[in-house]
Amino acid sequence: MGQLLVRNVPEEVRHWIEQGRQQHNMSQQEFILSILRRASVAEQTPLLPFESPVQEIAVPDSLPFTFVDLFAGIGGFRFALSALGGRCLFSCEWDRYSQKTYKAWFGETPHGDIRQIKPKDIPDHDVLAAGFPCQPFSIAGVSKKKSLGHAHGFKCLTQGTLFFNIVSIVEVKRPPVLFLENVKNLQSHDGGRTWKTITESLKELDYVVRSKVIDAAGWVPQHRERIYIVCFDRKVFGDDPQFSFPDPPAQTPKFRDILEENPDRKYTLTSHLWEYLQDYARRHREKGNGFGFGIADLDGVSRTLSARYYKDGSEILIKQDRRTPRRLTPTECARLMGFPGDKKIVVSDTQAYRQFGNAVVPKVAKAVGEQIIATLRWHLMRSGCLVKARQNGHAEQPIAS
Ligand SMILES: C[S@@+](CC[C@H](N)C(=O)[O-])C[C@H]1O[C@@H](n2cnc3c(N)ncnc32)[C@H](O)[C@@H]1O
Repeated sequence: MGQLLVRNVPEEVRHWIEQGRQQHNMSQQEFILSILRRASVAEQTPLLPFESPVQEIAVPDSLPFTFVDLFAGIGGFRFALSALGGRCLFSCEWDRYSQKTYKAWFGETPHGDIRQIKPKDIPDHDVLAAGFPCQPFSIAGVSKKKSLGHAHGFKCLTQGTLFFNIVSIVEVKRPPVLFLENVKNLQSHDGGRTWKTITESLKELDYVVRSKVIDAAGWVPQHRERIYIVCFDRKVFGDDPQFSFPDPPAQTPKFRDILEENPDRKYTLTSHLWEYLQDYARRHREKGNGFGFGIADLDGVSRTLSARYYKDGSEILIKQDRRTPRRLTPTECARLMGFPGDKKIVVSDTQAYRQFGNAVVPKVAKAVGEQIIATLRWHLMRSGCLVKARQNGHAEQPIAS
């Protein structure tokens, strides 16, 4: 490339260029080119960049980033985030059967009990993903602690819970993005106190908290409402990060699409169990309760697959000709959850039902993940580099190294 010449520019602009190039230790040519590159990739002409370091920006279609998979289960988050260019640096799951599946699918055994892991031993990462178990917090002390002037009143309240372990990791590692998932009733759990404690703790950590209940039925033929919580480090993204939750795809898949052609006879209910389920439903109907077994509508979506499906499979049953209904096979559960079809199930049926019933739907996590990537890209364009503010020293570090 030929030499860029700065001619016929007012003195103050020339001075400004000279100041900028010195500040960023660049030649005049490099400095002007970096500004032009920024302008060419930004949606709007960027502000001239004294407040943030000027870097060459390449904005790829997928953004390389790193993540950790906590309470990993069988890696629903890992499938989703890996598909978006994410690299998993650490996983943690204590159930040995889930570890077995995780090892078979990802080639690594997750670390065990999160309470035994020191936050400083977890590698630095860009996204912390976790589908943590929902536990009540002792709220009795909130106002007391607040009135005593404790700086971290809400954080204190999480002590002794698994959410506290997330908080402790966030405090030490300051990941720019937190991506959490939980059951819908997290918001109403314990009279709303659990939700309040969680969101207030995250805000105390200086994260902007966004959340939405999303029904997976737009992506898989299953009614499965879960709350997705996405948090952005305020020091990195500011007070109002550009982020929105995804809309479901236009086409909803049908339940019949996940069914196997010739399922084993062992999944057919015994007449005894089928009679018991009908009788149970009848008794509950008489009492005005709607609970009972659920025969799935083949052209619709099923009820939610729960971790207790292994017990009798009653929430999702499939009608059969001249036979009692059957439950789903583990392979059908994998499909109903939208897990990749090429993964071998390496545990017993009971464990497989439990694992799928506990998992996050990878397709939904991926759709939310895409929106997180969009936010990262927005931030990249806005600031010229993606930085990770550390609690101690606010050291700057590129997110996509
Ligand atoms: C709701 S599930 C998360 C499932 C996961 N998102 C997936 O896609 O499979 C919560 C997981 O946390 C794990 N867990 C519970 N307590 C734990 C602990 N102390 N340390 C590590 N994992 C734990 C459970 O075994 C369970 O698999």
